[in-house]
Amino acid sequence: MSDRPLNLAIIIGSTREGRFGDTVGRWFAKQAAAHGGFSVDLIDLIDIQLPPSHRAKPTPEVDAFRARLAAADAFVIVTPEYNHSYPASLKHAIDQGYVEWMAKPVGFVSYGGTVGGVRAIEHLRHVFAELHAATIRDYLCFINARRQFNADGNPIDPEGPGSAAKTMLDRLAWWADALRAARDSRPYIKR
Ligand SMILES: Cc1cc2nc3c(=O)[nH]c(=O)nc-3n(C[C@H](O)[C@H](O)[C@H](O)COP(=O)(O)O)c2cc1C
Repeated sequence: MSDRPLNLAIIIGSTREGRFGDTVGRWFAKQAAAHGGFSVDLIDLIDIQLPPSHRAKPTPEVDAFRARLAAADAFVIVTPEYNHSYPASLKHAIDQGYVEWMAKPVGFVSYGGTVGGVRAIEHLRHVFAELHAATIRDYLCFINARRQFNADGNPIDPEGPGSAAKTMLDRLAWWADALRAARDSRPYIKR
């Protein structure tokens, strides 16, 4: 693997008032920082002032958001499940970019009710295929998520989630390194 650090953007997709997504996202960001293979940029969509609809000329906030996507070599999307899919806030953010996603790997952390948000992940795989991104197989999923975390924002039983995070991050690093080398040696065909 290259000595250059891999940049990982972790995107917290829920902006709902009273959301649980920041607990899950911040815990995962700690796992990613501790993993050692990445430099982590935690992008919490609640902090990004995207315009409510697409503008002909992107706003400075959109440009800044796209610059953070462009700097990433890999992504992890932290998503809840809303009505068997992912939230509109996340789709709106994904749609702000295009070339920034291309030829880069994407992993997922989902949470929700009885199936832990996996339907949101499966829908997102279709979206990222259209964006020429490579979704990886491994993901983390928290069933009945609020019951799985303590008041400090950590899983009550840390072993399973911690080991799943490491496996996912190991494979994400492999893909990120391989795809960065490929992009460097031969620019991806974007148009
Ligand atoms: C509009 C809405 C729809 C939901 N639909 C589902 C669903 O289809 N399946 C599920 O497992 N949980 C569903 N839930 C429960 C959420 O996954 C759970 O509340 C989660 O904490 C939401 O993420 P957030 O708190 O970060 O916004 C829904 C919640 C909301 C607000």
